[in-house]
Amino acid sequence: MSYGELRHINVSYDKKNFVLQDLSLDIHEGELLSLLGPSGCGKTTTLRVIAGLIDPVGGTFELDGTDMTHVQVHKRNFGMVFQSYALFPHLTVFDNIAFGLKLRNVEEAAIRKQVGKIMEICGIEGFEKRFPKQLSGGQRQRVALARALVIEPKLLLLDEPLSNLDAQLRLQMRTSIKRIQQELGISSVFVTHDQEECFSISDQVAIMQNGKIEQCDSPEQIYSHPASEMVARFVGFRNFFTVEQAVGLHIVAGNFDKMATMMCIRPEDIVLGDKTFSVSMPGTVEVRTYLGKAYQYEVKTPLGMVTVASSEDTVYAVGATVGLGFPREKLVFLN
Ligand SMILES: Nc1ncnc2c1ncn2[C@@H]1O[C@H](COP(=O)(O)OP(=O)(O)OP(=O)(O)O)[C@@H](O)[C@H]1O
Ligand SMILES: [Mg+2]
Repeated sequence: MSYGELRHINVSYDKKNFVLQDLSLDIHEGELLSLLGPSGCGKTTTLRVIAGLIDPVGGTFELDGTDMTHVQVHKRNFGMVFQSYALFPHLTVFDNIAFGLKLRNVEEAAIRKQVGKIMEICGIEGFEKRFPKQLSGGQRQRVALARALVIEPKLLLLDEPLSNLDAQLRLQMRTSIKRIQQELGISSVFVTHDQEECFSISDQVAIMQNGKIEQCDSPEQIYSHPASEMVARFVGFRNFFTVEQAVGLHIVAGNFDKMATMMCIRPEDIVLGDKTFSVSMPGTVEVRTYLGKAYQYEVKTPLGMVTVASSEDTVYAVGATVGLGFPREKLVFLN
C-alpha cells in the first residue's frame, strides 16, 4: 500500500467542465513525487485537493491509512511552499518560521530549538532578525521552505517553488530541496512544468495532461519507456511512424510487441551516414539548423520527414543524399 492515495478524484470549478477527471495517484513514503505537465493541465488543482483547499466532487484521498478527503486544511498538518513565497512581510524571518509552531501552542523554548534546527538545515542561520524585504529571492525561498518544514509536516507540497529564481539559483535551490527532503525523509509532492528540473530531483514523476495522469513512473522509466505519444513528445521523442510503415521499410523485423501500433525515436538516436551506409534508409537533407553542439537535419525519406540530430564531424549540405540507421534498442513502441 502507498503512503498517500488519491483515488478517482473529480474536480469542477464551474459544475460543467471537469478540470480533474477520475485522477488516481500514489505517493510513496519518504519519496519526492513530481507532477509535470503543460500549463493548465491541473497540477495546482491536484495539489490543492491534497492540501484540502478544494473539495473534490468525487473520489477519496487517504494518507497513512486515514481518510483525509474531508479533513480541514489546518488539521492536515501539511507544509506548503508556493511560487510567490507568501511570507508575512511584517514578521521577521524567525517569526515567519515560528508561525506554525505558535499556532500550535508549542512552548517558547521548544520553538527556539526547532526553528534553530530548521534554519540550519535550510542554510539561513543568522537571518533571524531580518524582514523578508531585506532578503534575496533565494533566501526568501529558503525561509518559505523552513516555514513549511518546521511543523514536521506529514507531507510537503511545493507548487513551482523555484520559478521566481534566476537560472543559477534555481539549480542551486533544487539541489538544496532534494538534499533537505532526503535528509528529513519527508514525503513530498513537487509541481513543475520544467522537465529537466523535475527529472533531476524526483523519485517518481507523474505526467499530466487535461486533468489526467498519463504516466507515473521513475524518471528513468519515463525517459526510456514513455507509455504514450504525449509522454514521448514531452521527453524529447520525435519521428513517430506506424509499425506497419516500419516493417514495410525493413526498419524492424517482426520481433516486437504485437500490440504496438506506433513507434518513435529521438533525433539524436538516429545514425546518420553517407548514402553508401549499410542497413539504412535513403533520404535527402531538406533543412539544416545549427544547435551549438550538433546539427539538426530535416530529412525527406520514404517514411516522411525525419528529424535527425548529429554531432558527427561530417556535416551534410542541404540537398545531400544520406543514409539513416535506426538502432533497434533506441526504438520505442507505443500502443
Ligand atoms: N479558481 C478557478 N476557477 C475556475 N477555473 C480554474 C480555477 N483555477 C484553475 N482553473 C482552471 O483549471 C484548469 C487547471 O488549472 P491549474 O491551475 O490546476 O493548472 P496548472 O497545471 O497548475 O497550470 P500552470 O502550469 O499554468 O500553473 C485550467 O484550465 C484553469 O483555467
Ligand atoms: Mg499551477
